[in-house]
Amino acid sequence: MKSQRRRLLVTGGAGFIGANFVHYWRHHHPTDELVVLDALTYAGNRMNLADLESAQGLEFIHGDIVDQPLAERLIREREIDTVAHFAAESHVDRSIVGPDQFITTNVLGTHSLLKACRKVWIEEKKQHGHRFHHISTDEVYGSLEPDQPAFTEDSPYAPNSPYSASKAASDHLVRAYFHTYGLQVTTTNCSNNYGPYHFPEKLIPLMIVNALHGKPLPVYGDGRNVRDWLYVTDHCAAIDLVLSAGTPGTTYNVGGDCERDNLTLIGLLCDLLDDAFVRRRDLCRRFRDAPAACGGKSADLIAFVKDRPGHDRRYAIDSSLIRDELGFVPKVDLERGLRSTIEWYLANEAWWRAVMSGAYRDWVARNYAAR
Ligand code: NAD
Ligand code: TYD
Repeated sequence: MKSQRRRLLVTGGAGFIGANFVHYWRHHHPTDELVVLDALTYAGNRMNLADLESAQGLEFIHGDIVDQPLAERLIREREIDTVAHFAAESHVDRSIVGPDQFITTNVLGTHSLLKACRKVWIEEKKQHGHRFHHISTDEVYGSLEPDQPAFTEDSPYAPNSPYSASKAASDHLVRAYFHTYGLQVTTTNCSNNYGPYHFPEKLIPLMIVNALHGKPLPVYGDGRNVRDWLYVTDHCAAIDLVLSAGTPGTTYNVGGDCERDNLTLIGLLCDLLDDAFVRRRDLCRRFRDAPAACGGKSADLIAFVKDRPGHDRRYAIDSSLIRDELGFVPKVDLERGLRSTIEWYLANEAWWRAVMSGAYRDWVARNYAAR
């Protein structure tokens, strides 16, 4: 598949990782055709693709992955040969408050896409060199004790939240479509991502935005839960490798080899933010409520709050399979990744203010009303 010109359907391409992937793909594979299918939930934002949408080779479709006839039509009419499936409900805290939408989107939505692909690619024999790539999470493996080895592809599934349970169910469906129907699938189970376009309800962007406003930085429980952090472009590069050279029917774990507990991570993030204020005096004028604006420390805002129910203690990923088989090595270390993430949020204040207020919907209406 490597050298051929591809036609990709990217579901969830207006969300955090999906939008980064679309930017990554346009840069690395400029002649490929991309169709983005996104329902534009609170987490999906057409502004994330605004700089690309006027260019040739990118089409945006506002639609739901649960809508099988729509997916079928797109795959057939746009002659899609590759699906990169990012669309999901992705926030654990929301899944605890309201699990239903997670089952609808993550389980039924994935199944509806699989059915559409099977219909067009296998029953109608429209694509021999097809690929369905499913983007999943390390959270399907459950929680590790401090001394346990990192998750491998053979670790048993043990999801603990409605989010991870819904992703686990979707992983199993993807696997079943390979074994039962011969659909050419691959799956990546990735650790926690961070970087541009990350909705400010997730840990890293929430901490940046709160620190800039001088608001408390809410740390769940004792703050010693461990996550394995990966800069988002490294995740995109891993998916590229799997699409180009991965073996159909295979699952690849993707991690940053970068375990940090939340307090350590937040401490580093705060130090880097304070450092940005020392280097750039304009920030003191723009963000007067930030402790760093008057020589204080962002870390003083840390506030311990009630723990998340069922909060997984530790995730860690063993990426040896994708490293040994496909040569994957993360390129961006944590400090560089956090610095560039902070820079992005400082340079894109209008973006985060808009997504947090919901004002981007007005922006979409203004900019796309004529289409
Ligand atoms: P996100 O919440 O930022 O974006 C999800 C996107 O999917 C949004 O654009 C949203 O509008 C769209 N969407 C939601 N429901 C839809 C539907 N029914 N039909 C069409 N589009 C729909 O999520 P993210 O963080 O970018 O995660 C993308 C994928 O990567 C998810 O499958 C997630 O499980 C997986 N993942 C995320 C992480 C992480 O750290 N964020 C880590 C590993 C795996
Ligand atoms: P999150 O970004 O929600 O990702 P996930 O739960 O999928 O790993 O959270 C990352 C870690 O940060 C997790 O241990 C929960 C914790 N956390 C906080 O302590 N405070 C917060 O406000 C948030 C959103 C998360």
